[in-house]
Amino acid sequence: MHLSKIDQQNIWHPFTQHQTASENLVIVKGKDAILTDEHGNEYIDAVSSWWTNIFGHCNEHISKRIKKQLDELEHVIFAGFTHPTAIELSEKLLAILPKNQTKIFFSDNGSTSVEVALKMAIQFCHNQNQPKNTIIAFKNAYHGDTFGAMSVGARGTFNQPFEPFLFDVDFIDLPNEANFEHVQHEFQQIIQEKKVAAFIFEPLIQGSAGMLMYEAKFLDKLVDIAQQNQVICIADEVMTGFYRTGKIFATDHLTNKPDIFCISKGITGGFLPFGITSCSQKIYDAFLSNDKLKTFFHGHSYTGNPLACAAACASLELIHDAQLTINNLVEWQSQYLSKLKSNTKIENLRQTGTIVAFDVKTDASSNYFNNIRDFLYDNFIKRGVLLRPLGNTVYVLPPYIITKEQLQKVYDVIDEVLEII
Ligand SMILES: Cc1ncc(COP(=O)(O)O)c(C=O)c1O
Repeated sequence: MHLSKIDQQNIWHPFTQHQTASENLVIVKGKDAILTDEHGNEYIDAVSSWWTNIFGHCNEHISKRIKKQLDELEHVIFAGFTHPTAIELSEKLLAILPKNQTKIFFSDNGSTSVEVALKMAIQFCHNQNQPKNTIIAFKNAYHGDTFGAMSVGARGTFNQPFEPFLFDVDFIDLPNEANFEHVQHEFQQIIQEKKVAAFIFEPLIQGSAGMLMYEAKFLDKLVDIAQQNQVICIADEVMTGFYRTGKIFATDHLTNKPDIFCISKGITGGFLPFGITSCSQKIYDAFLSNDKLKTFFHGHSYTGNPLACAAACASLELIHDAQLTINNLVEWQSQYLSKLKSNTKIENLRQTGTIVAFDVKTDASSNYFNNIRDFLYDNFIKRGVLLRPLGNTVYVLPPYIITKEQLQKVYDVIDEVLEII
């Protein structure tokens, strides 16, 4: 039987309505920005395979480091034991994170890095005998698909069946020039009226919500207010980490530094699933006690997996030399956006660092279920480009190693598809 038929028979894919979805493409090879299917057709990966492959596919340096690790140590229980690659990774991460970050906790993906962050914040208050029961997040947020992560995310599209099981969260508007006074006021009011444990946010850009961008100065002010009121600030850098926004972390654009960071996606260059939650000494210290009940009772079988740690170390080695490529990418994206400005079929053109996005005008409202999505996706794929619109929002989020020629092809294909709408 053909591979895609067996796939259809056996496999339940994420975010997929199998009743109407077409067969999945069988990808047999990846190299740099190119994916090749079983028939030899090539696709330029302009979304870094779910925003993870920052150095493209099958990067040799990362691949070599994993192979070396494979022959040394593939896995070890991470309680009572540690290993050199995890230690090396902790040093590498702490060297690039803000100085207030002093401890690294490992898990398996973006959602679990958020889950860990929320649990750290809640137990931080609990351990100090100051239990607090409110969390503040932005409307439209997406922090993952586990229950804690769903609770701090937008209600509706992804979470509807689970809503009765999600804990209450206070959501505030994403700030902009026009509404900031109101947002700030509302934020302060919640903090004054409730016992707020934490404020969680996707810094500068809400990815899954449709690449909604906002300015650093507003977030900086909210973090300042939160920290003055002993509210723990959690930066969900799962998508924005490792230069996506032009700096290593999106919160490097702020002067106030969050207390907890969630990191995943780019950390292993897309090779292996991994999650990191880092925290400040203040958070960590609240868990030190002779009272065993103050322990952070959280862990996963694959916590600190040596292969993932090796991939992450290798990816971080590459990131130091990537600045030039990233600057070029930011510039190319910006030039393309300028060219697009005259296109009357689109609106809300925007850029944060290496990411550009725009909305295709339609009669329906801008959202994830906008009907034009499938038309756009299919036509991009037909022309050899992997772009995955979020409803009517098209975004380009390529691996940093994409060549100018490959990126030009992506732009040409977008132009062509916009022509036929
Ligand atoms: C900001 C943010 N947080 C968390 C997640 C969840 O990460 P994962 O899909 O690895 O669980 C995502 C995934 O897109 C994300 O964009």
